[in-house]
Amino acid sequence: MKIDIISIFPDYFAPLSLSLVGKAIAKGIIDVDVHDLRTWTHDRHHTTDDTPYGGGAGMVMKPEPWGEALDHVEATADGPLTVIIPTPAGRPFTQATAYELAAKSQLVFACGRYEGIDQRVIDHCHDRYETLELSLGDYVLNGGEVATLAMVEAIVRLVPGVIGNPRSLLEESHSDGQDALLEYPNYTKPPLWRGRSVPEILLSGNHAAIAAWRREQATARTRARRPELLTD
Ligand code: ADE
Repeated sequence: MKIDIISIFPDYFAPLSLSLVGKAIAKGIIDVDVHDLRTWTHDRHHTTDDTPYGGGAGMVMKPEPWGEALDHVEATADGPLTVIIPTPAGRPFTQATAYELAAKSQLVFACGRYEGIDQRVIDHCHDRYETLELSLGDYVLNGGEVATLAMVEAIVRLVPGVIGNPRSLLEESHSDGQDALLEYPNYTKPPLWRGRSVPEILLSGNHAAIAAWRREQATARTRARRPELLTD
């Protein structure tokens, strides 16, 4: 999988060389290219934003550098692009979205700042590429960079070969194997820590009973924290 990221803050993406995503890059499973949007500005100040037509607070990202940046990524791509525009005005990014995007071959993240990108760039993307405007949640970040980091991590861990034991994906929160319940609580050694013991059942070796207990815990947790996820 190829991932292109376009941003005015390429340094935000240094953490992608760490941990699981870094290992996937090192193994050649994914290839990440971070592009500085200012590469495609042509004035002395490398301007990427301007005041909004119609007035209002804040600045809007100018269309010209975005057009050239997208043309460049398209020209150097091997296949069809899927463009992701992180925005608080987008559809929610969910585990289902992460699975859908993990099956694509070329993702492009277009990170807006300020009040966002000129709408004509977004319309151009919808016309020319498969394009998703996605929100991480109902809060506002300063730009698309942190949202991109989160989405890239959620997507890359689902790409085959990235996680050593793919069974662990089936048992986590929001996965189909869990019927989209929140994950049950986990414990490891020692059996007693600061007066708190590991639930007896987990030491019993009775796998059917353990599975039933975990399901009960997952359901209770989901009911308490995210009742809207329960269908019955
Ligand atoms: N950019 C700013 N806020 C965002 C959010 N909540 N999700 C995705 N991108 C964003």
